[in-house]
Formats: sequence, C-alpha cells, structure tokens
Amino acid sequence: MRVEVIQGAIQDAAADAVVVNLFQGVSEPGGATGAVDAALGGQIRDVLATGDFKGKVGETLVLYGRGGVAAPRVVLAGLGPRDGFGLEAVRRASAAAVKAARDRGAARVATIVHGAGLGGLDAAAAAEATVEGALMGTYTFDAYKSDGKARGDRDARGKRGKPDHDEKGGAHAAGEDGGEGEDRQGDAASEAPAPTLVVVEHDAGRLEAVRAGAAAGEAVAAGVALARDLANHPGNVATPAYLAAAAEALGARHGMRVESWGRKRIAKEGMGALASVAAGSETPPRFIVVEHAPPGTEDDAPYVLAGKAVTFDSGGISIKSGLRMGAMKYDMAGGAAVLGAMEAIGRLGLARRVVGLIGATENLPSGTATKPGDIVTARNGTTIEVLNTDAEGRMVLADVLSYAQDLGPAAVVDLATLTGAIVIALGPGAAGMFPNDDGLAAALEAAGAATGERVWRMPMWDDPYAGMIKSDVADIKNTADASPAAAGAIFGAKFLERFVAFPWAHLDIAAVAWDAKDNPYLPKGATGWGVRLLVAWLRGR
Ligand code: BES
Ligand code: MN
Ligand code: ZN
Repeated sequence: MRVEVIQGAIQDAAADAVVVNLFQGVSEPGGATGAVDAALGGQIRDVLATGDFKGKVGETLVLYGRGGVAAPRVVLAGLGPRDGFGLEAVRRASAAAVKAARDRGAARVATIVHGAGLGGLDAAAAAEATVEGALMGTYTFDAYKSDGKARGDRDARGKRGKPDHDEKGGAHAAGEDGGEGEDRQGDAASEAPAPTLVVVEHDAGRLEAVRAGAAAGEAVAAGVALARDLANHPGNVATPAYLAAAAEALGARHGMRVESWGRKRIAKEGMGALASVAAGSETPPRFIVVEHAPPGTEDDAPYVLAGKAVTFDSGGISIKSGLRMGAMKYDMAGGAAVLGAMEAIGRLGLARRVVGLIGATENLPSGTATKPGDIVTARNGTTIEVLNTDAEGRMVLADVLSYAQDLGPAAVVDLATLTGAIVIALGPGAAGMFPNDDGLAAALEAAGAATGERVWRMPMWDDPYAGMIKSDVADIKNTADASPAAAGAIFGAKFLERFVAFPWAHLDIAAVAWDAKDNPYLPKGATGWGVRLLVAWLRGR
C-alpha cells in the first residue's frame, strides 16, 4: 500500500472510502468525526442512538455518503474507551478500518490520524501508528496461490530445485527475490490502481509531524513485511542462501556492508557449534553479517542484533514427531526479524552503527548428522556435549554471539524461536526476555510497551540453573537432564550466557513469531515480531 499525506478536511477527500473514529461511550461525535456526521445529516448520531455501534477497538461500521461527503463510503472505527487509550488502540483501529474498506474493494482509502485530535496523542506518534496499523493489517502473503502473483511463481518454480552447492558464497540463489521491499507494492498494479492510504490532516500546524510520523510508519511496516515474507516462505525456498541473498539485496538498497560465509569458512572460523547443526544437511549453512554504519559512526561500538535462522528444524537425529513439524519452517523468524529491522533502519536512516548477525542452517538427520553424545567446540573455545540435536538454536547462537564479542558491542539483543517451553510459560502475550543487564532490560521493556511487542523478564539465576547444564565430559551440555518442559527456556538462556561478555538480552520468540489471533494488525502466519521492538529500542538510544 502506498502512503500519501495531504492537508484538508476528511469529508472532502477524494477516495473510495474515508475513515473516521469514535471512542466507546460517546454519543455526540466531535472533531473530524463530528464534521462527517454533520455532512451525513446526523447519520452517525443515529447509529449511536440505536446502539448498533459501540466503539470497541477493532469494531467497524460502514456508512454511505450519498453525496454528503466526497467519498462513497465512510468507515467508522472504534477506538475503545478513552481510559487507557494509546498507540496500540490506534494501530488496531486503523488496521480494522482499512481492512474493512479494502474488503469492499476500496483501492484509495483516506484516513484521519487516530488519536492526534481529541485523543491527545503526539501527532507524529499517532500518524506512525495509524500508518503502521493500516499497512501491517492489510499485509497478505499469496506467493504460492496459482491465481496469484508473478513474484510467487518465481519463488515457487524459479531458481530453486537445483541444489545449492557449498562455497559459491553470497547471493547466488533466488537473487532477485531476496528482498521484497518496494517490489511488493508493484504486484497488484497491473489490474487495479495501486492501493493507496491517504493520511488527511486538517491542522496545518501538525502537518510536518504527521508527515514525519507517516514516513516512519511506512519504513517500519516495510521492515515487518520483509520479516513476515521471509518467515512465511517454506523451507524449500527460504534456505540459508535465500536469506543471504535477501541480506545482499537489502544491503544494496541501503548502502550497508554485507558479508556471508559458507560451510568451509564457518568451519575455518571455528564455528563448530553452528557447523554441527548444519552437518546433517546437504543445503549449506550461511553466517550472515549486515552492517549499517552511517558516516561518523564507523568507529562507534555497535548495537548488535543477532538472529537464529534455522530454515527448517526437524530436530535432527533427535527427530521431532511428525505432528505439526511443518511449523518448523518458521524457526528462522529470529533471523527474519533481524533482516526486517535492518530494512527499517535503512529506510529511517538511523544515526547509529547497527550490525545484524544471522546464523542460518537447516537441522536435518542424515548419515553425516551430529549425534546425541557428540562433543563439539564453539568459536570461543567452549566445548559442548550435544545431548539433544533438537536443542540446535542455542548451538547456532553460541557461535553468532561469540562472533559478536569480536565487535566490541555496546549491547547485543538476540532473537530466537528457541524453546517450546516459552510457549507454555507465556503463550502469545509476550516474548521471554533473559537479560544480563538491568539498563538494557528496562530499555527493551519500554520499547515493548510502546510497540505492543511486549517482553517479560525471566530469571537468570546461576543457582540452580547453571549447574544443571554442566557436562561430565565437556564444559557444558546443550540440554539439562530434566524433562524439556522443566524450565526449558531458562536452560536455553543460561547456555547462551556462556558466550557473552557484554550487555545482552536473549528474547525467546517461539510463541510470538507465528499467528497471534485477535489482533487486527497481525494476520495469520508470520508476525514479523521483533522488528518494531528492535527499531523502537534503537531509536530511543
Ligand atoms: N525450534 C524449536 C523450538 C520451538 C518450538 C519453536 C515450538 C517454535 C515452536 C527448538 O529448536 C527446539 O526444538 N527446542 C526444544 C529444546 C529441547 C530439546 C531442550 C524444545 O523446546 O522442545
Ligand atoms: Mn529444535
Ligand atoms: Zn529450532
């Protein structure tokens, strides 16, 4: 969806639908909604008098203009109660309203900035949330529907199928599809006019803030869409090489340095833990670096975003049951979020040095696969007894975090679909946060509250957890002897802690990376969780 910002009155906007809003419990609409009500001869007041529209968040009602307003349709969006109103309600209301318009065939949708007027929110933040909600809510993934788009045809039948041989390096697979970015918007353009969101601001004094906020919302939503695309693609398409190609394309768009290592280089660099996960697979792994260093920041200690990207997790020799194993195509959602965040950072032109690191591999059983009981050495010299080959995410991140150490980072945040245990502990309400630094934890909590991508702090006590992953024969083992469900998410974090000597937080996103129902701006499938959190955190630095 394209975004325009104009100054004017919403009732005059040339569009297929206009969006106005109402708080719950209001009987006399004011502001822009009041103006539209007047133009409609009091129709909105009639609706309120009947009780047919309550104004709950996500509730919508479509009215018809009959010439009173320039657009043929008026979508009324509920903002929920005034009490506790904030940006999350704006995102949800905007998503629900723009979807209601889209579902009725509206290509050009004009909206007021929810919350900036009577809601009392900062105009830029409100515009950002209005745009973010609309773009995130109308996201679709139809790459593999045969009545769909050329993009999907390329992905489904294009350059794959041929094995991706070791050591060709870089961007040789699925090259032109690697980064979706702007391309997404061109797809539908052949038949209908490109879907457009027109943000209408009445007050000239607020126009600049609204423009800036809308642009930021667009940048962030593009990052989220990229992360969702990458995670929605199946494991036979979104391979480690595909992620490397996406990183290359992203780097070329934004002038970022991109480097990616194949199997041999990974081994040569001492990344024995990552290599041990890749050992069972014919598809080679990639270790990917994307560096954003705007002029003047090159020598700053970088903020590092580290992602687990297991492009398919079968469990390896400790194979998972077949039930829902297909879901493990999204086991690369951490890496996808890192790339999505880098995309948003590039579009925003963030004035910070940020380095994205991604460990990408499949986890498959074969005659060359790592076996339970095997012992491998990570990049930092730590020896690891692999008790369960299904605890592979921590193996991947062990080497990614060891590499991060070399960068002398200001802070590192890793994102990983690491454990089923965090799904049990928190479900879709928050990611599990395991920090070693209170300041970083507080900053991430604030970013989570602002974006709705909430994090919940989990314990990192040495006693009893650290002792339980000591190995009899190596330095550590990759699972505790306890059942996987017993504090499983904590053992994952305590394992990772062995590879860090910098301010760090591990985010276990296993439960939030996929699906999340009952939220109008999170369609079914990959959520792109973490992109907005990371960007909000870095913008606050
Ligand atoms: N990728 C899984 C975790 C996962 C589970 C992600 C459900 C998303 C949804 C991870 O690699 C895994 O298999 N973890 C094991 C660890 C155990 C063997 C210690 C788990 O949680 O069962
Ligand atoms: Mn696993
Ligand atoms: Zn996994």
